[in-house]
Amino acid sequence: MCGIVGYVGGQECAPILLDGLRRLEYRGYDSAGLAVHSRGKIDVLRAVGKLRNLEGKLREVPLAGTVGIGHTRWATHGRPSEVNAHPHQAGDVVVVHNGIIENHTALRKQLQASGCEIKSDTDTELVAHLVSRRVAGGLPLEESVRATLSELEGAYAIAVLSVKEPNRIIVAKKASPLVLGLGEGEMFCASDIPALLPYTRDMVFMEDGEMAVIEADKVTLSTVEGQPVEREAKRIDWSPMMAEKAGYKHFMLKEIFEQPRAIEDTLRGRLDREGGDIYGTEFELDVAEIKRVILLACGTSHHAAMAGRYYLEGLARIPTVVELASEFRGRDAVVLPGDLVIAVSQSGETLDTLIAAREAKEKGAKVLSIANVLGSAIPRMSDAVFYTHAGPEIGVASTKCFTTQLANLLMFSIWLGRRRDVLSAEKSAALVEGLARIPQQMAEALKGTRQLCANLARRYVEARDVLFLGRGLSFPIALEGALKLKEISYVHAEGYAAGEMKHGPIALIDSKVPVLVLLPKDEHYERSLSNLEEAKARDAQVIGIATEGDEEAREVSHNLVEIPASLPELTPFLTVIPLQLYSYYVADFKGTDVDQPRNLAKTVTVE
Ligand code: AGP
Repeated sequence: MCGIVGYVGGQECAPILLDGLRRLEYRGYDSAGLAVHSRGKIDVLRAVGKLRNLEGKLREVPLAGTVGIGHTRWATHGRPSEVNAHPHQAGDVVVVHNGIIENHTALRKQLQASGCEIKSDTDTELVAHLVSRRVAGGLPLEESVRATLSELEGAYAIAVLSVKEPNRIIVAKKASPLVLGLGEGEMFCASDIPALLPYTRDMVFMEDGEMAVIEADKVTLSTVEGQPVEREAKRIDWSPMMAEKAGYKHFMLKEIFEQPRAIEDTLRGRLDREGGDIYGTEFELDVAEIKRVILLACGTSHHAAMAGRYYLEGLARIPTVVELASEFRGRDAVVLPGDLVIAVSQSGETLDTLIAAREAKEKGAKVLSIANVLGSAIPRMSDAVFYTHAGPEIGVASTKCFTTQLANLLMFSIWLGRRRDVLSAEKSAALVEGLARIPQQMAEALKGTRQLCANLARRYVEARDVLFLGRGLSFPIALEGALKLKEISYVHAEGYAAGEMKHGPIALIDSKVPVLVLLPKDEHYERSLSNLEEAKARDAQVIGIATEGDEEAREVSHNLVEIPASLPELTPFLTVIPLQLYSYYVADFKGTDVDQPRNLAKTVTVE
C-alpha cells in the first residue's frame, strides 16, 4: 500500500525522503510526492507514476529545507493523478495519509456546505482541511490534529506539517503501520522499517490511537486523548544490505535464493534435536483447552495455512478448518469454546486477516499469529506470536515468507502433537531431524533446478494457460505455484487437487497447455502419477516434479524436475522451489515488473 517517510533534522531532507520512499517501493504505488518546509512556506511537489518522475521534477524545481514528509500513493479514493497524489495542502497545513477514512462522504459534504473548496477526490485532502481550519483559528498544530482525529472513522497513519510550526511533524496512527526512527539530532518516521535502515536502527513502534510530535532532538508520544506514553526504542538488526538486491536481478529471485537462510533463522533455537521435540515456551497455551484450530489467512499465506491443516490434523490429530480471512469476517462464523485461531500473515497488517482474527477473539477464541513483521498489527492483537524470521520480503510475490510460514506451522503441529500425546517420540524425532536438514536440501534444490526451470520457462513462455496439480500436502503447493505464475507473469494458471481433474478441469487440456504435476514420494504418489498420464493422454505437455532418481516419473513425463528425497511432510519445502523458479523465469522472459506486478500491493490494508 502507500508509503510514508518523514524527516526533521539538520540535513537537506528531500534526498532522504526520496531514498526512504524508494525503499518502500515494494509496497506498491502509482504516484508520489514530497512536502518540505522552506523559509516561511511549505513547498509541495507531486508526480504520477514511478519515483523517477518525481525525481525529474525535483531536478527542475529543487526543494530546499530540513523538515519534510514524503509519500507513495496506491489509489483507493480517486484515480491515480497528480491532483490526487499526496501530500495534500489546505491553507497552512500539509498532510500525507495511508489507510481509508470511512466517513469521508459525510466529511466532504460538511466541508463543502461550509464553503470549502476541495480539489481532489481523496479522503486525505479532507483531513488537511479539517486540521487547517483549526490552525487558522489559532489552535496549535498538535491540538488541531488531535481534535481532527476525533472526527475521523477508519484507518490512518498520517503525518502533518504546518507553515506556522516549521520545526516539527505531527504523526498519528490507527490501524495502519507507523514507526519512528531515532537519530542523533535528527528524527524520522516511516510506514515501514526498510525506509529508515540506512539512517538509524533505533525504532519506536507506534500503537493504534497514538500520536507523536517529531522534532530534531526528540519525539514525544501520547495517546490521541492526550495521555503521555513512554515506550522504549527497539534495536533493529536488519542491515540495509538485507533490504537490497544483493546482486540479483530482482528482489524476488534474491528472496527465492534466501530461503535456506530464512528457514535456518526460523528454525534457530527451536529444534530440540536431543529430545526430538520443538521448543515452544512462548505459546503459553493450555493444550487441554484447545478443541479445534481455525486457520485464517489470505493469498499465499492461505496456501501455507492449507498445508498447516494437513500438519495439524496429521501430526496433532486436532480438528482443523482453514478459512479465507475475507470470507470468515463479517459472516458471523461459529466460534466454539476451545477454538484456537491461527492467523497467518507475512506483513501482519492484512486488513481482512486482522479483522477476522479480531472477530474470532471477540467471540472468545485464543489467537496465535504467525507473522514476519515485528510489532505489526496482527501480532499485537494476538495472545501469542510465532514469528517467522525471513527478514524483509520486498518482492510483492511472497516466497521466503511462504516457506518460513510452513516451517512454523509444522513446528507448531509437532509441538502440539507431542503435548496432546498423539505424536510418537520416534516420528517427532524423525521430523525434527528432517527439518534440520531442510535448509541444506533447499540449497541443493535451488542449485539443481535453476537452469532447468529457466529452460522450461523459455520453452513454455508463450503458453496462455498452465495447470498445476497435486494431492495431499502437494495440493496447496500446486495452488501456490499457480498463484505465483498468475501474479508475476499475468499468465492464466490454475492449481487443482489432482483427483478433481476428472470432474471438469480435464476439459481444458490440449497440446498447448503445460501441466506441472507434483509427484513427491508420499502416499498419493501412484494416483498422482495416473493423473499425469491422464493429462498426457490428452496431449498436454507434462512436467513432473519428482524425487531424485524416480525413473518411473522420468519415463512418463515430457520433462522431469528432480528434488532431494525427504520425509513426506517435508516435501512442500522442496517442491515449491521449482514452481517459484519457473514462475520467476516466465515473468522475466516476458519482461513484466517482477517485483511490483501490476495492480498488486505487498501489504493489503484495504477492503
Ligand atoms: C503473495 O504472493 C501475494 N502477493 C498475496 O497473496 C499475499 O500473500 C496476501 O496479500 C497476504 O498477505 P500477508 O501474508 O501479508 O497477510
